[in-house]
Amino acid sequence: MPLSMPNASGPIPLAAYEESAAFIRGHLKETPRAALVLGSGLGGLEEEAESAVRLPYADIPHFPQPSLPNHAGTLTCGRLAGCPAVVLSGRVHYYEGYDMPTVAYMTRVMHLLGVRTLILTNAAGGVNEGFRPGDLMLITDHIKLFSDGPSRGGAPTGLGERFFDMSRTYTPRLRDIARCCAAKGDIPLREGVYFFMPGPQYETPAEIRAIRLLGGDAVGMSTVPEAIAAAQCGMEVLGLSCITNLGAGMLPDAVLSDEEVGLTARASSEPFRRLIRDVLTSL
Ligand code: HPA
Repeated sequence: MPLSMPNASGPIPLAAYEESAAFIRGHLKETPRAALVLGSGLGGLEEEAESAVRLPYADIPHFPQPSLPNHAGTLTCGRLAGCPAVVLSGRVHYYEGYDMPTVAYMTRVMHLLGVRTLILTNAAGGVNEGFRPGDLMLITDHIKLFSDGPSRGGAPTGLGERFFDMSRTYTPRLRDIARCCAAKGDIPLREGVYFFMPGPQYETPAEIRAIRLLGGDAVGMSTVPEAIAAAQCGMEVLGLSCITNLGAGMLPDAVLSDEEVGLTARASSEPFRRLIRDVLTSL
């Protein structure tokens, strides 16, 4: 008997993803064109959805439950800025104790629903010395040096190949649309590389310096597992970060906290929402 077998606890079976998708499909009036994942402090946009149907995650078979108070755990289907969309208010994170396939679960369900465009939003720490709290950043690429990932052990058939390309994960076409919408709406939009850290602790000052040396412009604890699963099943991804704070050690007396992250994200939500609305209209 080998000491260790791949996927000893068993992969999530395709049937589970399909049951989740079938339940959601039963409440849809049309196939959504986009799915939008709202990060910490960025909720509220779902309230603008027209002809909306709201499904608590707890009602959707197999859907993971966010354990954080600021992650609502509601799926809204409806038209947002004219675009048939699904809004996921609340995601689950690796640092909550979920494994990576569970963190990417909702993404794979969105693929089975026929969603082609995934918009991932997050709160992130600024690492680039030119960034300020409140800045919005278009994610151009990511770095994940952490070994675990949602595709380790393979994804079920129908959810992508074992080996897959990550050269254009943050789809150039969607980045162009975001740049164009930001310019038209007079919304300053930074651009940069998002560096994934597993958390839940914020980084040390030495880690922030290392991330900068490695090419990271912002750091956060979400988004990358979902972007990887999306790339694996061929979805287009747009990633937007709200820079809520400067990375550890960048301001001499700063103490990083979840409260500060939430406050800054909420304070910057107006241009963020406007940008997302305009992007949805342009899809
Ligand atoms: N580090 C990691 N994740 C974050 C940060 C940070 O500074 N700010 C918001 N999310």
